[in-house]
Amino acid sequence: MNNNGVVTIGLDVGYGLTKAVADNGKSVCFESRVAPAEFIRFQADIGAPVQTNGLTLHDTEEGTLWVGELASTQGRPGAVRSPRDRDRVNDPITTCLADAAFAMLLPGIDTTRARVVTGLPVAFYRDALDLTQHLRGTHRMLLEGRSLTVEVEDVLVVPQPFGALLSLILDERGRMKTSTLDLVEGKVGVLDIGSYTTDMILVEGLQYIEARSGSIEVGVSTAIAMIRKVLQDDYRVSYEPHELEQAMRRGWLIVDGKKLPLNGLASERLDPIARSIEAEARTLWNISTLTGIVLAGGGSLALKPWLEPRFRQAIYTPNAAMANAVGFLRYGLRQWNGQ
Ligand SMILES: Nc1ncnc2c1ncn2[C@@H]1O[C@H](COP(=O)(O)OP(=O)(O)OP(=O)(O)O)[C@@H](O)[C@H]1O
Ligand SMILES: [Mg+2]
Repeated sequence: MNNNGVVTIGLDVGYGLTKAVADNGKSVCFESRVAPAEFIRFQADIGAPVQTNGLTLHDTEEGTLWVGELASTQGRPGAVRSPRDRDRVNDPITTCLADAAFAMLLPGIDTTRARVVTGLPVAFYRDALDLTQHLRGTHRMLLEGRSLTVEVEDVLVVPQPFGALLSLILDERGRMKTSTLDLVEGKVGVLDIGSYTTDMILVEGLQYIEARSGSIEVGVSTAIAMIRKVLQDDYRVSYEPHELEQAMRRGWLIVDGKKLPLNGLASERLDPIARSIEAEARTLWNISTLTGIVLAGGGSLALKPWLEPRFRQAIYTPNAAMANAVGFLRYGLRQWNGQ
C-alpha cells in the first residue's frame, strides 16, 4: 500500500487458476471455479485442519457462492463454473474471481482504494477497454464474518504473457533492472503455457508485436487428457480432470491404494504437446533471431523436461506460475507510484 492508502494489485485470471499479488506482500492462487454454496453437513474436527483454498462469497444477485477449490471439491457436478468458453469480460464470474482475489489479498481490511493491473489472453486483447470498465468502480463483498469494499480507481490491461516479461525486467518496486537490458532492447518471445491455452507473444524493444503473437488450444489440460487415458487403458482407473490437475501439481496419485509417481507414467506421451507448442512458435517467430524465450505459466513447469531441450534461449521466471501476476504488480508500481 502506498502513502495515500491505495493498494496496487496484479491480477491474472486464468481459465484454470486465478493468481494475484498485492504490494502488501500477499499473493494468492486458487482454482478459477465458482459454484452455488450449499450447507456442508459434516466436517470432521480432529484438530489438524486441511486448509481448503477458497472462500465463500455472498453475492447480491447470485446468492451464496463458493469460489476456488471449495467450489470444485464441494460444488455439485454440473453447477461448477469456470471462465472457459465464456465471455471473458462481462461474465459475472470475472467479477467473482477478482473479488475473491481481493478478499484473500486483503485480510483484516474492511475498506480500501485499489489500482489493478490485469491481462487478457492474446485472442481477447481487443476487449481490453471493456475489461477496464468492468473492473473499475466499487466492489462490495460480503464474506464469512466480514465485509470488504474495494474502490478500484484505476485499471490497466496488458496482453497476458507480457506480465511474465515485466516480472523479469522490473524489480519488486517497479524499477527497471539493469541486468536484463538485453531483454528490454532485444526481440523476445514469451510462451505462456496455461491450463487450456498457450499464448505466445513477440516483444521487440518492449513493443508488443500483435502480428507475431497468437494462441493455441494446448495446455496442461491436454496433458491431463493424455494421463487420464493412460490410467484408463493401462490401470483401469478413472480420475476426474480436476483431480488429475491437483495430482500433477503434487507429482503423485493413488492407484489401487498405492502412491504412484506421475513422472514416468506418461513421459513419451507428453512430448507431442511440447512439439506442437514449438511448431506454433516457429510459425510465429524466427526463433534463432530471438534474444530470449521467456517460459511462463503453470504448464511451463508441468512440461519443463520436454520444453527445455526445444528452446535453447529458454528463460524461466523464478515462479513461472505466478509470473504474469507478479509482472502486472511491478508494472502497476512503475506506472502509478512513479518509480
Ligand atoms: N509447479 C507446477 N507443476 C506442475 N503443474 C503446475 C505447477 N503449477 C501450476 N501447474 C499447473 O498449471 C496449470 C495452471 O497454469 P496457469 O495458472 O498458467 O493456467 P491458467 O492461466 O489458469 O490457464 P490459461 O492460461 O489457459 O488461461 C494447472 O493445471 C496447474 O495444475
Ligand atoms: Mg494464464
